Amino acid sequence: MITTRMDPEKARWVGTGIPPRLRGLTFNDVEEMGGQAEAVKKARHFVNGYRAQQSKNWRGLPTSPNVYGLGLLFAGQPGTGKTTLAAAVLCELRRRYGLTVYCARYSDHIERERKLVRADQNVDPEQISRWQYAVERVQWADVVLLDDVGHEHSTDSKFAEDTLERLLRQRYDEGRPTLITTNLSGDDWAARYSKPLRSFMDQCTRRQIFTGESYRRGDQ
Ligand SMILES: Nc1ncnc2c1ncn2[C@@H]1O[C@H](COP(=O)(O)OP(=O)(O)OP(=O)(O)O)[C@@H](O)[C@H]1O
Ligand SMILES: [Mg+2]
Repeated sequence: MITTRMDPEKARWVGTGIPPRLRGLTFNDVEEMGGQAEAVKKARHFVNGYRAQQSKNWRGLPTSPNVYGLGLLFAGQPGTGKTTLAAAVLCELRRRYGLTVYCARYSDHIERERKLVRADQNVDPEQISRWQYAVERVQWADVVLLDDVGHEHSTDSKFAEDTLERLLRQRYDEGRPTLITTNLSGDDWAARYSKPLRSFMDQCTRRQIFTGESYRRGDQ
């Protein structure tokens, strides 16, 4: 029998959807990059407090209902480090507590949902099960990062908008935190999605605005 061995550090990130260049990232790594000190501090606080936030009493009820299932919303201009820090949060949670984490660009998630709805017998079943795996991870992973919300394609049917609302409410009701990164401001958010969803975001996430110039060379 042929057995293939994988480096355990590599194996930890398989199936997490985290882009390879961000896999295994720590808060120390992000601090060394130099920017967004306040956001990094809040991200550390979130990970340090994760167990307490999610704890339940002997009856299975959350001991801190106000924060149970609370996620993070990173909003700000392109290139300010939102995806990098959000990926570090996932990596720290996975490494420290062994949680199932999953990362998807929201536009990719919506594409997969659309393709699953449309799929017929001509589509390779293995392809379908890969899409299904990804879609189910977004629904059921302990903590999920929906990256770049607002960049997905919008249609008359409002499929992407409705899916986001359903997903966030379902995850919050199940007590599963969601991390979101977006370039949209609060007003953009209310216009694109809805005022009720904008208001629900304040309930189900802590907002962190990323200020300053883009760190990407060429953006300035
Ligand atoms: N805290 C930081 N300090 C300095 N540079 C950083 C920091 N975080 C990320 N960077 C660098 O800035 C660049 C952009 O980071 P990132 O992709 O996380 O930004 P973003 O806010 O997600 O952008 P977008 O809104 O376009 O998705 C990357 O090259 C990254 O290495
Ligand atoms: Mg990003």
